[in-house]
Amino acid sequence: MKPLRIGLIGYGFMGRTHSNAFTQVKNFFDLEYQPVLKAICARDAGKAKAFATKWGYESIETDWKKLIARDDIDVIDIAAPNNVHAEISIAAAKAGKMILCEKPLGFNGPEAEKMVAAVQKAKVPNMVWYNYRRVPAVTLAKQLIDEGRLGKIFHYRAKFLQDWTINADLPQGGAGLWRLDAKVAGSGVTGDLLAHCIDTAMWLNGSIDTVTAMTETFIKERKHTLTGKVQKVTIDDASAFLARFSNGSLATFESTRYARGHKALYTFEINGENGSLFWDLHDLHRLQVFDYKDESKVRGWKSVHITDGDHPYMKNWWVPGLQIGYAETFVHQVADFIQGLSSGKMASPTFKDGLATDYVTDAVLKSAKTMKWEKVKKVK
Ligand SMILES: NC(=O)c1ccc[n+]([C@@H]2O[C@H](COP(=O)([O-])OP(=O)(O)OC[C@H]3O[C@@H](n4cnc5c(N)ncnc54)[C@H](O)[C@@H]3O)[C@@H](O)[C@H]2O)c1
Repeated sequence: MKPLRIGLIGYGFMGRTHSNAFTQVKNFFDLEYQPVLKAICARDAGKAKAFATKWGYESIETDWKKLIARDDIDVIDIAAPNNVHAEISIAAAKAGKMILCEKPLGFNGPEAEKMVAAVQKAKVPNMVWYNYRRVPAVTLAKQLIDEGRLGKIFHYRAKFLQDWTINADLPQGGAGLWRLDAKVAGSGVTGDLLAHCIDTAMWLNGSIDTVTAMTETFIKERKHTLTGKVQKVTIDDASAFLARFSNGSLATFESTRYARGHKALYTFEINGENGSLFWDLHDLHRLQVFDYKDESKVRGWKSVHITDGDHPYMKNWWVPGLQIGYAETFVHQVADFIQGLSSGKMASPTFKDGLATDYVTDAVLKSAKTMKWEKVKKVK
């Protein structure tokens, strides 16, 4: 296996999922390249060192510009908050590095356009970490839809519900709470949770033409961790929108961090003329399938356990019947990225796909302000 030298930026939640994936992938997939954990970059040298020791990174950097300048790094992996995705990606592309960037791609469409232009100009392989595409049950849903088993699609319904910001005393900003600070996050649940739902939806059901949305900020002011002052909250706490897909189907999307009792309830349901599919992140190794072609006496929703050798990715894991989970979706994404390097056909979602999602979230946020249906810009 040839080395693929990784320079990771950020050691938080995603820094850990990516590091785990880089480490695991060679054990489960036969690939031309093997990730080598070359350097971890974070602003706090002590924390970066501790992370490097724990995960096996060979070196640390405290300035991402220095990381990008190194000639022993092939891939820049961005697992830092949204406000630095564009600057780092554009600099990394200019330096000829391959780029793996966390979602959402940019702060908004115009920023993401610059990121796409940079990777296209530099002709560097690129990918966005919309990992839910690589849950085997979700990949199977894509296969079933592409095989035409659902027939004409009428409805798409997605939700991503959490409940961790209900407490009014929770501050905004700083480590762990940057998601509540619009200057760092860009938006609230729209760019954070709905972006995942939109990426999956467009992958499964094609592009979205128009949207009409409503958003709400339930807690209007919170203390800011960095300034110590009580400041206005400018992210959307909840966001819901209706959409029309280019294939004529209708959709509803909803996301909130105020759904008491739900931690990460991402669900989608698709209804077509010949069948329906339903998937739930809390039960991620199952796909619910309804096939109208089944004999009427035994027709009904089937709960398919996605663990067999002919299910996507599963032959690489254990024996049939034994399930895998969240962490493995990132392993699959690294495997597909590497296979793309070998085949010359870049794995999706690319930066261009990430831009398409940013265009939808832009239209959602705009519609929530104008209270009108908004057209979604199309990627050229
Ligand atoms: N794919 C997914 O399912 C998924 C899930 C969670 C988060 N994310 C995305 O991943 C990114 C990171 O989120 P997280 O949950 O890991 O956040 P986190 O707060 O857990 O970690 C962020 C890390 O970035 C570092 N960082 C911040 N600014 C930096 C800078 N200028 N230079 C270097 N390091 C810097 C922080 O020190 C920290 O180590 C975000 O873009 C988020 O939207 C994606």
